[in-house]
Amino acid sequence: MCGIVGYIGTKQAYPILIKGLRRLEYRGYDSAGVAMIGQSGSLNVYKTKGKVDNLTDYCTDKDISGCIGIAHTRWATHGEPSARNAHPHYSQSHNLAIIHNGIIENYADIKSRLQEKGVTFASDTDTEVLVQLVEYIMSSKNLTLLEAVQTALYQVIGAYAIAILDKRDPHQIIAARKQSPLVVGIGEGEFFLGSDASPIIEYTDKVVYLEDGNIAVIRLGEELKVMSIHGEEQALQVKKVDIDLGQIEKGGYPHFMLKEIFEQPECLTNCMRGRINVEGNQVTLSAMIDHHQKLLKAKRIVIVACGTSWHAGLIGKQLIESLCRIPCEVEYASEFRYRNPVVTKDDVVIAISQSGETADTLAAIQLAKERGAFIYGICNAIGSSIPRATDTGTYIHVGPEIGVASTKAFTGQVTVLSMLALCLADKLGTITKEEYQLMVSELTRIPKKMERALQANEQIKHLAMIFTYAKNCLYLGRGYNYPVALEGALKLKEISYIHAEGYPAAEMKHGPIALIDSEMPVFVIATRDRLYEKVISNIQEVRARGGRVTALVTAGDELISQYADHVIELPDTLECFQPLIASIPLQLLAYHIAVCKGKDVDRPRNLAKSVTVE
Ligand code: AGP
Ligand code: GLU
Repeated sequence: MCGIVGYIGTKQAYPILIKGLRRLEYRGYDSAGVAMIGQSGSLNVYKTKGKVDNLTDYCTDKDISGCIGIAHTRWATHGEPSARNAHPHYSQSHNLAIIHNGIIENYADIKSRLQEKGVTFASDTDTEVLVQLVEYIMSSKNLTLLEAVQTALYQVIGAYAIAILDKRDPHQIIAARKQSPLVVGIGEGEFFLGSDASPIIEYTDKVVYLEDGNIAVIRLGEELKVMSIHGEEQALQVKKVDIDLGQIEKGGYPHFMLKEIFEQPECLTNCMRGRINVEGNQVTLSAMIDHHQKLLKAKRIVIVACGTSWHAGLIGKQLIESLCRIPCEVEYASEFRYRNPVVTKDDVVIAISQSGETADTLAAIQLAKERGAFIYGICNAIGSSIPRATDTGTYIHVGPEIGVASTKAFTGQVTVLSMLALCLADKLGTITKEEYQLMVSELTRIPKKMERALQANEQIKHLAMIFTYAKNCLYLGRGYNYPVALEGALKLKEISYIHAEGYPAAEMKHGPIALIDSEMPVFVIATRDRLYEKVISNIQEVRARGGRVTALVTAGDELISQYADHVIELPDTLECFQPLIASIPLQLLAYHIAVCKGKDVDRPRNLAKSVTVE
């Protein structure tokens, strides 16, 4: 996944690069590195294992001069996380340095060809092969850096966003992308590079999102030039970004995750703004206005997504099937793309992704497109690859999500899916006007109810201490709350490294019940809905086997406290919107348990925010 930053201008590059890396650390933090062409003309590469702080410590006594540089924060795919495998990678002569996000799939072939020609390698990465290949082409064919990059990229199979420096030409960065994101920021007499706009926004709001197959020639004192891999000049599409800097800073919270959990009421208000009218009885999605024929005629809807977004998809399925009566399937994008699925032009495929960059989801979209399906995107990151690859879609507008564990994006996705299902159901006439208005107005009340759910924070903080030493946890829920159980378990696994399983409560008796003993905390979502009585029976089954039950109940419930060890009260809402409320205590629980265990909540081990590799 990796984060890429670059700068060329008149200011010192190092502080800009480091600040940019910190913004992109969510993309990976196995190692970090910088390359700058210093005042003396030397190409200085510094890199360390671990987070950006290690790099800055290491650089305290180094030459960090120069107004041109590139920097990288890595999530390793090829080669262990180590300083040796950290980017930037030098070419053999040390004239070139490269940073890369993606995977060069045919790196082994290219590497052995180059080794036969006498090239020696300093790392185990796929990335180094690319810089060595560029250098080999430059010297053997006597080509410029740009020509050599073009030639090299022809030979490469895989995904990349790259930036290359050549110390013999200290006024130029060459950058290119295929399937991995890359943004060029255009300032006054300076240029910036980023995997997304976050390292750029405090310097300029003018950006160019490179397209697949684009190469950017970034030269000091000249206009930005973007061309295809074949050398054809591309028209520049300069966009204006408007991300508020405050949105990507912690705002007084100890962690981004906690900040993002607490801002959900405001995020959902933003998500519904302009889409639900002020009277709170009408939803309008622009995608529906422009493409309603396609959507209303869908014979089937297929949702593709990964991780938390897939959990949101499971809730979307229930909303779409029960409100719109359109058959709906939910697929892991990573499985869908490789299993020759039945998809036709009568299908609508909904791709859900916070980052808009998940490689598996992008590939699933590509496959569905080839088979003629209409593609609807539900994304958060504006201008990212997925919204650009879809036919239409709706942004969730919850602001940048930095914590690796997704929280506000999940509730934003469920909100958009709810609005979409309501729009479709209204147009299809599959629910009555009264039902429609009741649901729309209840949706507008969710942010206030979320605020009430957040008031359980102190209670949950206290409970978290009890569960800090658990080895395993079970999460149970039914109906709309089953995906909430899955999501609760995923949150706990990701940031506290405690093994957890989410299960439909009634399925427990078909296997997992064997795991239950007094060592096993069981979290049950037992809000008052159609399946309330059944869930109470499930709680009793757990209790009978000595299990420790913490139940999420509807405020005022007096029955469940008789059976459960702990209860967390939640404001009441319609069953279909319960996930928006019930996910909050489970996010808080995972957060506080991870804090009690001293884990790095925002940057859990082995993970990255944006999974741009398969
Ligand atoms: C969520 O907490 C995870 N970090 C992860 O499962 C994530 O939801 C998944 O990688 C999909 O990402 P996306 O929404 O950006 O496509
Ligand atoms: N494949 C490169 C490496 O392992 C880049 C990884 C990435 O983009 O995640 O270093």
